[in-house]
Amino acid sequence: MLQGAVISEDMVKDGYEDIMNIDISSVAIELMRTKYEHFPQLKYLQMDFRDMSFFSDDTFDCIIDKGTLDSLMVWKVSCCFIAITLLI
Ligand SMILES: C[S@@+](CC[C@H](N)C(=O)[O-])C[C@H]1O[C@@H](n2cnc3c(N)ncnc32)[C@H](O)[C@@H]1O
Repeated sequence: MLQGAVISEDMVKDGYEDIMNIDISSVAIELMRTKYEHFPQLKYLQMDFRDMSFFSDDTFDCIIDKGTLDSLMVWKVSCCFIAITLLI
């Protein structure tokens, strides 16, 4: 979640007002709570995403899986790296 926090911060700057961030690591959650304590729009909860029963079905308008985004972004960066390598 650490780099993912930047997404949440950017979403607040874009006008989103209520963002729940979760991570199974209490250390990560405490770090992010401290770092973003001046962002009341960001909430942090230590929990396992495999059991989201804590939330009712209509709690969220949208859920972002940062791990999937990371995979896509790594792919994009990798393609650039391969292209540059081939040019050299
Ligand atoms: C490698 S980190 C990357 C985080 C994110 N991609 C980012 O850039 O901030 C993966 C995160 O997933 C969390 N994680 C692993 N299993 C989890 C689970 N079952 N529920 C919630 N978070 C989990 C870890 O604690 C860790 O903070």
